[in-house]
Amino acid sequence: MTETSLQHIAVCPGSFDPITEGHLDVIRRAAHLFGRVIVAVATEGGKQTLFTQEERVEMARLSCADLPNVEVDSFEGLVVEYARRRGAVALVKGLRAISDFEREVQMALMNRKLAEDVHTIFLVTHPDYAFLSSSMVKEIFSLGGDIADLVPAVALEGLKSKVGSRKS
Ligand code: PNS
Repeated sequence: MTETSLQHIAVCPGSFDPITEGHLDVIRRAAHLFGRVIVAVATEGGKQTLFTQEERVEMARLSCADLPNVEVDSFEGLVVEYARRRGAVALVKGLRAISDFEREVQMALMNRKLAEDVHTIFLVTHPDYAFLSSSMVKEIFSLGGDIADLVPAVALEGLKSKVGSRKS
């Protein structure tokens, strides 16, 4: 690790609906590689979310509270414009499987076209979370499955109060 990379800022963008242990694994590793990491929670945009933006930000904030160089913020509009405004040099994204690859590379190339100075860096997901997604967590939870070790406690509480589950 060079001193230079330690000064760099990275943005971890996403919907975080809700934040999962897979997201946290990527955020923690980004925080190890960069001086400062901004977890940027996107507004609803084209996607319908279960949690409001405020709820998603709050869950992410509480989950990252133990990471001193990580900040949680929200953004609207183009992620590369947000990254530029915040002085970030990189977007850090988790890459789970081949299925993520096409969409993620398409976004990375489009973002590069829009802003060559903002680099997309992919961190390959920890194998324990390779199958994990926020959508799957919501589905499993609503059908009564156990997701306790797949999401931080605050997200589990959020899901309980938002959707309940078949078990409860
Ligand atoms: O967690 P997600 O839903 O996979 O995150 C997708 C996200 C929010 C990172 C992506 O949709 C995004 O960057 N949205 C902001 C709008 C934007 O910049 N779109 C162009 C990306 S090519």
